[in-house]
Amino acid sequence: AHITFNTKNIENFVAEHELDEMQPLITMADQQLRHRSGAGAEYSDWLTLPTDYDKEEFARIQTAAQKIQSDSKVLVVIGIGGSYLGAKMAVDFLNPMFNNELADDQRKGVKIYFAGNSTSASYINDLVRVIGDQDFSVNVISKSGTTTEPSIAFRVFKQLLEKKYGTDEAKQRIYATTDANRGALHDEAKISGYETFTIPDGVGGRFSVLTAVGLLPIAASGADIEALMTGARDAQEEYSDADLKKNEAYKYAAVRRILYDKGYTTELLINWEPTMQYLSEWWKQLMGESEGKNQKGIYPSSANFSTDLHSLGQYIQEGRRDLFETVVKLDNPVSNIDLPHENGNNDGLQYLEGVTIDEVNTKASQGVTLAHVDGGVPNLAVHLPAQDEYSLGYLIYFFEIAVGASGYTFGINPFNQPGVEAYKTAMFALLGKPGYEDQTKVYRARLNQ
Ligand code: PA5
Repeated sequence: AHITFNTKNIENFVAEHELDEMQPLITMADQQLRHRSGAGAEYSDWLTLPTDYDKEEFARIQTAAQKIQSDSKVLVVIGIGGSYLGAKMAVDFLNPMFNNELADDQRKGVKIYFAGNSTSASYINDLVRVIGDQDFSVNVISKSGTTTEPSIAFRVFKQLLEKKYGTDEAKQRIYATTDANRGALHDEAKISGYETFTIPDGVGGRFSVLTAVGLLPIAASGADIEALMTGARDAQEEYSDADLKKNEAYKYAAVRRILYDKGYTTELLINWEPTMQYLSEWWKQLMGESEGKNQKGIYPSSANFSTDLHSLGQYIQEGRRDLFETVVKLDNPVSNIDLPHENGNNDGLQYLEGVTIDEVNTKASQGVTLAHVDGGVPNLAVHLPAQDEYSLGYLIYFFEIAVGASGYTFGINPFNQPGVEAYKTAMFALLGKPGYEDQTKVYRARLNQ
């Protein structure tokens, strides 16, 4: 396996035989997944996506990315939830931390800014100011094509493009990623003649990072999407055995399930690199939206170390004992620093001379793990050998297959998200959207409006 999953630090919490006892449940989940006999199977095409994807569209994505790089300094990527987090995770992980602030010749591709992922007006205004007079293009992404936040942001940036370049050239700078046949965005793209990319029917939003949803922004940022797919493809092969002793993704699913049954109902995904914060945000949607149903499921949370050790650390060490941690540890960062030499020991750091800052990071992570285990927090670790496309593709598939199997062990449909509709009904009713007239009266009355 390219990435490794380490369970050494759960020995105090999970006995070997408990893992063996999970095998029948995992075998059942594996069958439901691979025979497409489980609930929601019509949305499980992500399972074979790394080997079975539209090669013609993939080539078009690369051509579009090159065009964007040749005529734009900035790509505004408009989308929310599953149409946002995968690209954000990958663009952050595969590029330097302050990529948008670097000089042009220091960056592999264009600057990527994300929009349409909140209902904040100030965010849009501030982004418009940042773009200023720089040449830009827009990639609007929405599977349904009707989501409020991206629709609103798209109107603003479309009009900005039209004002700057005129209607015809603006159309050449808009790329729409949406359903092949339906939805307002699909219809508008067709009427206006935007270049379009497709979100396959059988791939839900949170599983769509390896479709055009993620691939176009990732490619425009200068990252290698071939290598990303190769990593996912190798993982698809690696995690194809139902045997817990041979499949580390299933082992991760099984251990999580055992911990949940013992009352460890919140999982913290931990990173030790600021470029990995959005890996956690992507993972939280993947896990939470897949498992959080029927009043069940592990609550997915996250912490960024060492930063959050100075804020959440107290709670993790001594608070309510329902937490476990999964550390995604990058073993070889892209760059390192030797601690600079200084005469004397005024800052108390002389004992660290000859040590690199990454060695400090690694020792800190090892020390924190031991302290948290001693404090009663089970600790799982996923080791990532490199900060590159191949490793990220591998990791994406590891988490996707793990949550697919895990969902079936909970007896729920891991691939729907009925709960995300409830707030939309209330919001549309309050905004007076046509079709919601009855609810409008009810909700406005509740707010005395
Ligand atoms: O996973 C989901 O269903 C959601 O997070 C969606 O991805 C999000 O609501 C965006 O939906 P759409 O792509 O239809 O605009």
